[in-house]
Amino acid sequence: MEPRVNGERLHGRLRRLAEIGATAGGGVTRLALSAEDKAGRDLLRAWMEEAGLRVAVDDLGNMTGRRPGETDEPPVLLGSHLDSVVRGGRYDGALGVLGALEVVETLADHGLRTQLPLVVVNWTNEEGVRFEPAMTCSGAVAGRFERAYVYDRTDRAGLRFEAELRRIGYLGEERPRPLPAAYLELHIEQGPVLEAAGGAVGVVGGIVGITWLEVTLEGQADHAGPSPMGSRRDALAAAARVVSGVERLARERDAVAVATVGRLVVEPNVINTIPGRATFSVDFRHPEPAVLEAQVAGLEELVAGVAAETGVRGTVRRFWTSEPTPFDPGVVGAIAGAVEDLGLPRHTLWSGAGHDAKYLAEVCPAGMVFVRSRGGLSHCEAEFSSPEDIEAGANVLLGAAIRLADAAD
Ligand code: HGY
Ligand code: MN
Ligand code: MN
Repeated sequence: MEPRVNGERLHGRLRRLAEIGATAGGGVTRLALSAEDKAGRDLLRAWMEEAGLRVAVDDLGNMTGRRPGETDEPPVLLGSHLDSVVRGGRYDGALGVLGALEVVETLADHGLRTQLPLVVVNWTNEEGVRFEPAMTCSGAVAGRFERAYVYDRTDRAGLRFEAELRRIGYLGEERPRPLPAAYLELHIEQGPVLEAAGGAVGVVGGIVGITWLEVTLEGQADHAGPSPMGSRRDALAAAARVVSGVERLARERDAVAVATVGRLVVEPNVINTIPGRATFSVDFRHPEPAVLEAQVAGLEELVAGVAAETGVRGTVRRFWTSEPTPFDPGVVGAIAGAVEDLGLPRHTLWSGAGHDAKYLAEVCPAGMVFVRSRGGLSHCEAEFSSPEDIEAGANVLLGAAIRLADAAD
């Protein structure tokens, strides 16, 4: 009989971890390198050690727990991230890390050894919310970011990544980064596809392209009273035109294009002063690189047009691009085989969310397993996946890991 995960243990850990950074509405805020992130890491370390894994922390704070294999060949790496967005959900990332831990514990419970070692991983700063951009520490392992670039990222309070990593006690030793034989990530879908299809789990074909930009509009701060409307250079009024234009760029492009203005800072942000400056983010996503480029060009035209009409000065800074990434057919096949072994219907979809698997896919065969999201909601406190779906996803991860690591009893 094929082993199955211990649902009680997995759900219990998800509940326990969700107490760290818990928010009033039932979600979590565990920003990268915060006290809450440290507490989550400390808890994970304790669980990994209890499970007999050899725990290591690298110079980017990435945590790993290694279970030896029959051989010392490159391992199958499986995991995700423990950091969250602000008032995010309790499953985003956490499910992948704790699901991976559950897989290695289940193998141990059943006395199953694997030819290849298994390594559970918690990637630092997947969300890129406090320290933009996203996925910097899996990206650094894949050679896409220099360590110095990552260390120099600062949060809105001007605190540096490296100092914060040291402060929470997770600035580990630099060490050669052995590339894994394969990478698996269990994650909630964070979208509506599986729910619409009536599927509990999904086989992920790849991740769409993502690009992040920052727009700064400089007008003239002035008194809200004596300044005639015709002479104003109101940065926020100009930003409002650009923001609605960004929305139109996606709606008018096609059915899959998405665009989001998620953060906006108004200065001086007081009731009786015309805003002199507005700074905001733009997040474009699309499966085709050419369309992403067209969206960026559309934004630059939009900003230039609004600047000409309103007299504000506009600048667009593009600071991160994650290209569309198809996953490895062999890993996708192992996941699909595990779905079939469980007698579950196969649903294949692409991810609209970014994941560390994007960068792992650049250095080794990688793939993802999705679990249905209720209402397709995520990055909010209402994020929810049912215990049954979570267990199904973890069992698919277990089956795929057994296939890739070549388990033998
Ligand atoms: O932005 C993303 O898609 C991911 O949640 N970091
Ligand atoms: Mn995530
Ligand atoms: Mn996320």
